[in-house]
Amino acid sequence: MVVSSAPGKVYLFGEHAVVYGEPAVPCAIERRARVTVEKRDDDRLRVHAEDLSLDGFTVEYSSESEETPDVNVSESLVAAGVGYIDAAVEQARDAADAPEVGFDITVESKIPLGAGLGSSAAVVCAGIDAATRELGVELTSEEIAERAYRAELEVQDGEASRADTFCSATGGAVRVEGDDCRSIDAPDLPFVIGFDGGAGDTGQLVAGVRALREEYDFAADTVASIGDIVRSGEEALADGDLEELGRLMNFNHGLLEALGVSSRSLDNMVWAARDADALGAKLTGAGGGGCIVALDESDGTETALKFTPGCEAAFRAGLDTDGVRVEEV
Ligand code: MEV
Repeated sequence: MVVSSAPGKVYLFGEHAVVYGEPAVPCAIERRARVTVEKRDDDRLRVHAEDLSLDGFTVEYSSESEETPDVNVSESLVAAGVGYIDAAVEQARDAADAPEVGFDITVESKIPLGAGLGSSAAVVCAGIDAATRELGVELTSEEIAERAYRAELEVQDGEASRADTFCSATGGAVRVEGDDCRSIDAPDLPFVIGFDGGAGDTGQLVAGVRALREEYDFAADTVASIGDIVRSGEEALADGDLEELGRLMNFNHGLLEALGVSSRSLDNMVWAARDADALGAKLTGAGGGGCIVALDESDGTETALKFTPGCEAAFRAGLDTDGVRVEEV
């Protein structure tokens, strides 16, 4: 049996603009998905998931057959929970040249689903790491990033960015520009997350920005300005200048708001963080609902968020310099 874990992430800067070739900076956070994998004697998969916003369920099936998993939760939730695991298992089987092997798999994730924190990437990275190790193969974090990206591409019908999977596999702060992903130096980043309990529709939100950008030159300029913020943010990261990072996060949120991807609950949480003297705050991910990220060394923002209408959960999750890692063998 092998247990591996991998972190979620926030976008410090650059979501949406990254779709148009601008750079972006995602950062791994101290919130992990843990995946336990044990080889079986047959070719079946048994998946048990907990805390995946799904209240816990177990399914057992053979990936070769068309049989519907026998479970008491809705099919779409099962598909969401199991699709990524299936794709991770396929990658592990391929890496270990063991196409017929079956596994018992337990997923424990404290990363809300679909809320801009890279939950699926974390599950896929940890799953590939644990399953390959269980088969006696040790992949580098770059190899896991590549295979996890391919797994996400498959589940998401060819629509995936490398940002989440690279960040989860390597940890730390990452610079993404097109297909080029690299780790960059960063100081300790005191992130606080606020979660409104919801999730935006990434496809719709990306399409909305695309339409605005095509209709208005100033919307295209707004997207390009986010790229400028990212470049300034990289300098602030290199200088370890948290105050400047906070100012740039506020600016980035304002531009995302102008592009129509914020929401009342996200804005409420951003303002609660600013009123609590956070250095800066912005939505993270596609927007529409989900999470904000604030920068605050004190307890002020976390406390303020807990009393903010529309905020369902608030927690501290600093920059995690560890990417995917083995927890137990
Ligand atoms: C979503 O997490 C991030 C977006 O930039 C979309 C993408 O990069 O694929 C909104």
